[in-house]
Amino acid sequence: MKLKIAILPGDGIGPEIVEQAMKCVKAVAKKFNHDIEYEYALTGATAIDQVGDPYPDTTHELCMKSDAVLFGAIGDPKFDNNPKATVRPEQGLLAMRKKLGLYANIRPVETFESLLHKSPLRRELVEGADFVCIRELTGGIYFGEKGRKDNGNTAFDTCTYARVEIERILKLAYEFAGERNKKLTVVDKANVLESSRLWREVAQEMEPNYPDIKTEYMFVDNAAMQIIQWPKNFDVMVTENMFGDILTDEASVITGSLGLLPSASMGIHTSVFEPIHGSYPQAAGKDIANPIATILSAAMMFEYAFDLKEEGKLIRDAVAASMAEGFVTEDIAEEQAYKTSEVGDWIANWIEKN
Ligand code: IPM
Ligand code: MG
Repeated sequence: MKLKIAILPGDGIGPEIVEQAMKCVKAVAKKFNHDIEYEYALTGATAIDQVGDPYPDTTHELCMKSDAVLFGAIGDPKFDNNPKATVRPEQGLLAMRKKLGLYANIRPVETFESLLHKSPLRRELVEGADFVCIRELTGGIYFGEKGRKDNGNTAFDTCTYARVEIERILKLAYEFAGERNKKLTVVDKANVLESSRLWREVAQEMEPNYPDIKTEYMFVDNAAMQIIQWPKNFDVMVTENMFGDILTDEASVITGSLGLLPSASMGIHTSVFEPIHGSYPQAAGKDIANPIATILSAAMMFEYAFDLKEEGKLIRDAVAASMAEGFVTEDIAEEQAYKTSEVGDWIANWIEKN
């Protein structure tokens, strides 16, 4: 199969971790005789520095004509502490999501046996936890009307959702639940927010169409609590943009490290695969960052964008082997820690040999 991939390394550790994922992509492609064609493009602070735009048109054009996008990370501290900055790296990510129509962000939360002792939760609570958070990604308060009034002394951000936006994400969430353990938790704040009441109304209308799936409704504050109290009770969780942003960071750490969790963003045009962690600027260029979340994002790319399940599984098996052997970076190492590039080489090599 011919696979055309756009590579957007972005900022901070982005380039190093994407490089490791590409080693694995190439190893898998070689093994299964796929013809990989790939091209790099600018995004984030790097793109602002070079061309003054965090998601340049040339990058968007490349994404549009590719079969999948592999994304590193975005963000630079020089913008974080400057609320007056007019262009920000994150705007690039938001523009990409909007322009590619990536309304669904899929974040699987899985635990790894060899890492359970790193979880902030007791082993018995987290062992075997396995759920998927589906976050709406192109609506809500991130994209609603925002601004200042009263001479700049009052600021507002508006959370807006249209029925069609809610329907399409719920449909996708029901499909996921149907392929998994047939339980869908719809997370909202319907006791306070009008937009949440529309979410719940739409979900209640759709529920009878999926008789084999158990639909559960949960307020977001309660969900935040239950993720750490009973993580094993979740199967598929679906929620709006900002609730999903917050809950997925919370969910990711229960597995033992933020450096492990991949994500897929899907919707109307090309899908994007990226680790859920940020650009970790303190580690940039040091060859110490954990590449596993990005390597697992590449596995999701094979599975979701190309429908190549075996290829994805081989990458997952290779990652599991590296963790079982302790061939991992310093954030999760027990004894000797290996460099980012060494872990990438080890995993790619395992793929070639197995
Ligand atoms: C994420 C990130 C982004 C978000 C930021 C970088 C804009 O936190 O992908 O979760 O809030 O969506
Ligand atoms: Mg986030």
